[in-house]
Amino acid sequence: MSKILRYSIGNPIKTEAVVQKIPKEKGELPYFKYVQKMEVTKQTKDGKEQDSLVYKLNCEDKIYGLGENVRGINKRGWIYKSNCTDDPNHTETKSSLYGAHNFFVIDGKETFGVFLDYPGKLILDMGYQRMDELCITPEEWNLDLYILEGDSVLDIVKTFRQIIGRSYIPPKWAFGFGQSRWGYQNEEDIRTVVRGYRENGIPLDSVYLDIDYMEQFKDFTVDEKHFPNFPEFVEEMKQEHIHLVPIIDAGVKIEEGYEVYEEGIQNGFFCKEQDGKEFVGAVWPGKVHFPDVLNKRARKWFGKKYKYLLAQGIEGFWNDMNEPAIFYSEKKLEATLKKIKAMENKNMDMWEVFAFRDMVMGLSNHPEDYASFYHDMDGTIICHDKVHNLYGYGMTRAAGEAFEELEPEKRILIFSRSSYIGMHRYGGIWMGDNQSWWSHLLLNLKMLPSLNMCGFLYTGADLGGFGSNVTEDLLLRWMALGIFTPLMRNHAALGTREQECYQFTQTELFRKLIGIRYGMMPYIYSEYMKAALNHEMLFLPLAFVYPEDRHAKEIEDQLLMGESIMIAPVYTQNATGRYIYLPEPMKLVRMKSIEEIETEILEQGHYYIEIALDEVVFFIRPEKMVPYTESGQYMEEIQEKEIKLLHFVTGTAEYKLYQDNGYEKDYENPNHIKKLHVEN
Ligand code: GLC
Repeated sequence: MSKILRYSIGNPIKTEAVVQKIPKEKGELPYFKYVQKMEVTKQTKDGKEQDSLVYKLNCEDKIYGLGENVRGINKRGWIYKSNCTDDPNHTETKSSLYGAHNFFVIDGKETFGVFLDYPGKLILDMGYQRMDELCITPEEWNLDLYILEGDSVLDIVKTFRQIIGRSYIPPKWAFGFGQSRWGYQNEEDIRTVVRGYRENGIPLDSVYLDIDYMEQFKDFTVDEKHFPNFPEFVEEMKQEHIHLVPIIDAGVKIEEGYEVYEEGIQNGFFCKEQDGKEFVGAVWPGKVHFPDVLNKRARKWFGKKYKYLLAQGIEGFWNDMNEPAIFYSEKKLEATLKKIKAMENKNMDMWEVFAFRDMVMGLSNHPEDYASFYHDMDGTIICHDKVHNLYGYGMTRAAGEAFEELEPEKRILIFSRSSYIGMHRYGGIWMGDNQSWWSHLLLNLKMLPSLNMCGFLYTGADLGGFGSNVTEDLLLRWMALGIFTPLMRNHAALGTREQECYQFTQTELFRKLIGIRYGMMPYIYSEYMKAALNHEMLFLPLAFVYPEDRHAKEIEDQLLMGESIMIAPVYTQNATGRYIYLPEPMKLVRMKSIEEIETEILEQGHYYIEIALDEVVFFIRPEKMVPYTESGQYMEEIQEKEIKLLHFVTGTAEYKLYQDNGYEKDYENPNHIKKLHVEN
């Protein structure tokens, strides 16, 4: 039996994360105790005293959730800070990434879920200061705290997902493979990429346009020199079955005569400082203003701007830099340059050098800047730092709401870098600027279930890694995980090694690997749609499904994907295989391609399984099946192909195959479900 308790503390800000009306509780908050604590992030003796909510952790307690974050599936033993941050170094020492996903479940002596609907900074100490204490410390006690109870972790997660509303559903083509790179400059660069894929027979459905396509990094412009006839080029790509997906950034360039800037100024749609002047930050184009996406009218205006690209044939977007990232603010830069001038010819000692370095490095994303501008939340003027975590949500909501109006019949692809729970209804997210590190392949895997818990189903990492130089084996192994993630995109940073699949020696392997993705689409798409429509997780930790199995409970490098399979990718360089635990008998499926499949039934237990670089291995659960088909070069090509079945059914079993045309929105139409049966 599930139960939801809502405690409204102080004056919470409306975030619209929760869509169900939950009455406020009057009684005392269960599980937690209020305690006066020293603010821990400062880690100095002069930290200020704060009220914290404390839960006494038992040794067996595990903590799941927190969406996009570093470290394990079990979040116990580290301190997290809910504070959307543009930080490309996702090392385990970090406490925040781009998203603020304040939902977690404690599973142990007592099992319950907690959602803190609070858009400001929030410290979640998951047993860091004291190993036996979970400590919640918001900057201010103005929040809605939800306690969720249920029969199991899965039950609690499902209840949570129901109250936050249905997860975003992208068009079907967005499940195809996409190639991206910061640095594709012009039409010819894009044609080269498409040719590279098509000539090597490697499937591809989209190419992403990074900031290079814009005119001087201005949102809703296209550089005419490099893309002289954009609609024609979009159409040319469509003929090749390629969708172009342009990036949109949060900052709007300050430039007289630039329509977006002029309209924003005239209507007062940008965030302002206390004196009423627009806040000036800087990002790619230099100085920018930030649209006040927390204001309904401004949001509507900004959303409508996407029409400029939709009208030219574009059907998908990625929203970026929307924490929002600030390279520097006009004011801070001025003050800093003054200080630097005063330091000229100075003989700096250690302390002064450190201070100097911190001052310059600290120009970006400075807390004082976030505290210096304001939103007009439909009549209430509120300082940005109190609602910081809502900005990416607001920007993506602007797009999502506009798409409903501009293209009511059609699904449009949209995913964002920054997010807050609630945004999962409007778009997906990608996992931001990772690195070509083996550890980030594993981090990618671990984030998947945590994100699913918070409603984010359409997600994936930059395959191959964004920063640093990838190696061919890392890309192959990473793609072997990526073939299962809803967003499957290879993306890399400017200046890094070229990492399109055809740049490597073994293009044949990439062709087969991505071919497996396309071949397994009937399963991948069905499982995605069912997870979204039934508020379920697509990727599950073993602990959620085999809660009584103490081995399964410890495993953090294998996941269940959908109802039928378990995945266990290789994430170690030079490994020829890996250890895998089967919590029940399973059928091992070894694919060299979607046509070359071997299977073997294995009993429950521990195994070392060899997995060569040119293989994908996964496991089918008992009495389950996996529909698949032949591969194709693009999604439309596989739409009508015959459905085949892989299964581990000894009695009789049924599978609900979800099939629709992939762009319309009549999701609940019962005709989309076809029941497949196996009888032995
Ligand atoms: C940010 C994005 C990255 C993009 C780059 C240039 O770093 O996270 O994906 O390539 O900006 O737009």
